[in-house]
Amino acid sequence: MFSAFRKYLLIPRLIRLSSAAPKDPRTAWDQYWGNIRSTGATGDVLWDSGSDHELNGYLPTLAHLDPALPVVDVGCGNGSFTRLLAQHFPLAVGLDYSANAVDRARLESADVTTASFAVCDMTAPDAAQTVAAALKEAGWTGEANVFIRGVLHVLDLNGRSALAVNLLPVVGTRGGVFLAETNFPGTPVDYVSHLGATRKSIPAPLEWAIRGLPMPGRFGAAQRAKAFPTADWNLVEEGSASIETRPLSNPSASDVIPGYYALLRARQPG
Ligand SMILES: C[S@@+](CC[C@H](N)C(=O)[O-])C[C@H]1O[C@@H](n2cnc3c(N)ncnc32)[C@H](O)[C@@H]1O
Repeated sequence: MFSAFRKYLLIPRLIRLSSAAPKDPRTAWDQYWGNIRSTGATGDVLWDSGSDHELNGYLPTLAHLDPALPVVDVGCGNGSFTRLLAQHFPLAVGLDYSANAVDRARLESADVTTASFAVCDMTAPDAAQTVAAALKEAGWTGEANVFIRGVLHVLDLNGRSALAVNLLPVVGTRGGVFLAETNFPGTPVDYVSHLGATRKSIPAPLEWAIRGLPMPGRFGAAQRAKAFPTADWNLVEEGSASIETRPLSNPSASDVIPGYYALLRARQPG
């Protein structure tokens, strides 16, 4: 009985660690990315497994997207998924509102000729123009597919809705949106305990995230229905996903966070 409650002894430590995080999310993310020293399976970034295993699981769903269109990776971070997507689409453009993330993504992708990156706040009123400019810079004019992983669950309700509205002109009639997000059902304490935090120790990549970033929420079917209303979007497919982290508990295997995926298309008038 006591052991079930032991995890709650973590709360003071979590509060102490997270109190240092900048209150403005964009500042927090940019500072986070500026402090990252390494990425991939042995790196500092909690959600970067260094493997293509998770993306490979999405490929049957991504096959519904028009493979002749480029893909825009919204909130690309260090570009791990952008680089993988560049193997399946003619062009992959990673966008992030952290300039430090974009610098890092460019550095890590120097040898991928069909991946490019730009700074863009995807919730800003002019985001669609910034996306079009980034695509044009990479040699493409017109509609595109969109990939989103691990971004909507860190936004508030207004941010999610603004982002979804901004995607409508990006996808137009031919493109589609694929999203995969963490949808952890418990409290923040359950979440960090699931990822191996105890009162005595916290895996370093998890501690970096707790120290530097706002506490994430969850994003599942209910949150998707609010952010992508049926007046604007058709749901093509949805289901549960396994979001893979950098190996935490076992050096040779990713840890997994319960997640949610969906494929959507913009509703056409008439
Ligand atoms: C958890 S990380 C996921 C990174 C990447 N998608 C991946 O799965 O490896 C969330 C990313 O979203 C970015 N982000 C958050 N809000 C954003 C916004 N409004 N516009 C663009 N990027 C944003 C953050 O800077 C961060 O790099």
